[in-house]
Amino acid sequence: MTNQTHASEPPELLRVRDLVKHYRAPRAAQRHGPPIVHALCSVSFSIGPAQTLGIVGESGSGKTTLLRTILGLQKPTAGRVLFLAKDASQLKGASARALQRELSVVFQDPYTSLDPRMTVADILAEPAQIHGLAVSSRKALALLDQVRLPATSLRRFPHEFSGGQRQRIAIARALALDPKLIVLDEPVSALDVSVQAEILKLLKELQQARQVSYLFVAHDLAVVADISQRVGVMYGGQMVELGATEQVIADPQHPYTRELLAAVPVPDPRIERAKPRMLQRQWPTETDNLPPCPHGDTL
Ligand SMILES: Nc1ncnc2c1ncn2[C@@H]1O[C@H](COP(=O)(O)OP(=O)(O)OP(=O)(O)O)[C@@H](O)[C@H]1O
Ligand SMILES: [Mg+2]
Repeated sequence: MTNQTHASEPPELLRVRDLVKHYRAPRAAQRHGPPIVHALCSVSFSIGPAQTLGIVGESGSGKTTLLRTILGLQKPTAGRVLFLAKDASQLKGASARALQRELSVVFQDPYTSLDPRMTVADILAEPAQIHGLAVSSRKALALLDQVRLPATSLRRFPHEFSGGQRQRIAIARALALDPKLIVLDEPVSALDVSVQAEILKLLKELQQARQVSYLFVAHDLAVVADISQRVGVMYGGQMVELGATEQVIADPQHPYTRELLAAVPVPDPRIERAKPRMLQRQWPTETDNLPPCPHGDTL
């Protein structure tokens, strides 16, 4: 049940095919539930250059697992991640590092994702240092300028900044090696609504200027719709809906997407206009009837 539009799929930067990730459930949880958690069940999608794919889904639906697997921080149980048509897990040495430079990440919590002992200059230099490269002070200043922070920030420490400013520093760090794709895990969830809007605006401006792509995860559909040309909806480890943002909002196919759209008042007029039609529908009862994970209980 998807809005997938294969004919209009963009040329690929990232291709995720039939990705599966199972975890052994913690011992205490095994007493009450299944021993294996199906965190990702055959998830597939692709992202093109200078594109944003937004992923929305409730807590525990597998969003972070998806990002961690794409980033190579954990091995998939099955399936493939192709970045620039290459499987990073099959590469070694210089070619693996070259591919890693094209992919970076922004985490949810700007209070824990920046090392409190490092100055902003050190934080911006770190991605390059990991790859044995140097960041000139001119480049560091240009990065700060692009995220609209003053040059004086370079010598300061994270605790001297607000949450929104810290997230700007995290975005500058993610841009340091001029990646083609930035993966963002709930990057505005910890921020006030007005600050959220500023960060979303900044991300859109940066995309225009640098032609970078985003894989943007949030649990708030209004936030995801604001920044994404395409939206994927995750539910129970599956991508239950994937399509152009306008299409998913105007004609949601999955009951969970309809619930998401109808649940809360949102400032997006496109969503508000679509609501009365959605609420007139008979609520389906099959929300929990997902097809079984194709890889059974393999770990
Ligand atoms: N290391 C792990 N070991 C066992 N189970 C895990 C592990 N990491 C995640 N899970 C389980 O996998 C499922 C998906 O978790 P994940 O963190 O990907 O969800 P999420 O969509 O990011 O949720 P949230 O919105 O709360 O961040 C959950 O049931 C979670 O408990
Ligand atoms: Mg998460």
